Amino acid sequence: MAPSVLIIGGSGAVGRPLVDEFSKKKAKFQRIAVLSDPAKISRFADAQKKGVEVIVGSFLDANSYQGFDVVVSLAGNAAMKLQPGMIEAAIAGGVRHFYPSEYGGDISVGEVWKNRYFRDKVVTRDHLAAKAKEFPDFRYTLVLTGPFTEYAVSSFNGIDFERHTVEPYGKPGAELSVTAMADVMKYIVESILIPFDSGKNVHEFRVPGERLLTWEKLVEYLGEAQGVEYKLIYLDPREAATKQEEARKNGNEDEEVFWAGKSVMLNGSGVILEPVDNGRFSFTPETAKETIHRLFGKNKASL
Ligand SMILES: NC(=O)c1ccc[n+]([C@@H]2O[C@H](COP(=O)([O-])OP(=O)(O)OC[C@H]3O[C@@H](n4cnc5c(N)ncnc54)[C@H](OP(=O)(O)O)[C@@H]3O)[C@@H](O)[C@H]2O)c1
Repeated sequence: MAPSVLIIGGSGAVGRPLVDEFSKKKAKFQRIAVLSDPAKISRFADAQKKGVEVIVGSFLDANSYQGFDVVVSLAGNAAMKLQPGMIEAAIAGGVRHFYPSEYGGDISVGEVWKNRYFRDKVVTRDHLAAKAKEFPDFRYTLVLTGPFTEYAVSSFNGIDFERHTVEPYGKPGAELSVTAMADVMKYIVESILIPFDSGKNVHEFRVPGERLLTWEKLVEYLGEAQGVEYKLIYLDPREAATKQEEARKNGNEDEEVFWAGKSVMLNGSGVILEPVDNGRFSFTPETAKETIHRLFGKNKASL
């Protein structure tokens, strides 16, 4: 039977395009719904017009999840630490398949596991693994895409689009994988319809749009698309680490996470290791060059 899907965080930066992608594919699902705080229902008026249901309630209340097979969490940084509570409530409400809010690099690799930026994602993965042991019919899916191309090529990573300078924290030659946001949405939606291998209760989809490229190459594509030359100067990641620690000592969690995030893009954490799963999906993703030319080239769509 076609699954019923409940989306948490449907109003966020990733949630909005994901709800849109689900609405395009709704014939493949029994129900598509977003969970909303009672005070914020109006934000989903457009989605409702496209056939998306709005469930009003708390993500910590089991009643919110009743009647749904799959939950897709798009919790942002602030809500990330609440995911173990969501998982408990979802299971109590009858959900048996959970997508944690990941959609980035593989946090299980090397030092990434210890980076503050990913702390709440790590705790969530541990919680899911424990629940899958406790409930043999409970499953979860990890969608690993590397950074979204749109987020990689942004001011967060030190790109100044006016002055044509790039000042990221990292080392020359650092590699990363990237995926265009529209393709991330397609991977999430299609992945729900791929059956689990028998006896497995974890699905891990490694689906980068482009698996291995350097920061230099991304900057070259940007300059090429805009017809200008960018000056690339690497900043010492230790400076970001110092600011992260200062923020922690001052009890400023948002800043602490912000500075932890500054150092992750160019420390190898965004590389998706092989083997990849792109071939299990129905489409060919955009390359980094294609996305950058679409966004910043002469014929760019309005940003
Ligand atoms: N790989 C990449 O480059 C990349 C880029 C962006 C995002 N991501 C990942 O995508 C996921 C979603 O990120 P996002 O940027 O879409 O997040 P976001 O825009 O910050 O927020 C997502 C949702 O979380 C909800 N939320 C935030 N704080 C909350 C709280 N305290 N209580 C309840 N709900 C709360 C928001 O609802 P309200 O508006 O109602 O607060 C919103 O709907 C994350 O895992 C993120 O790491 C990856």
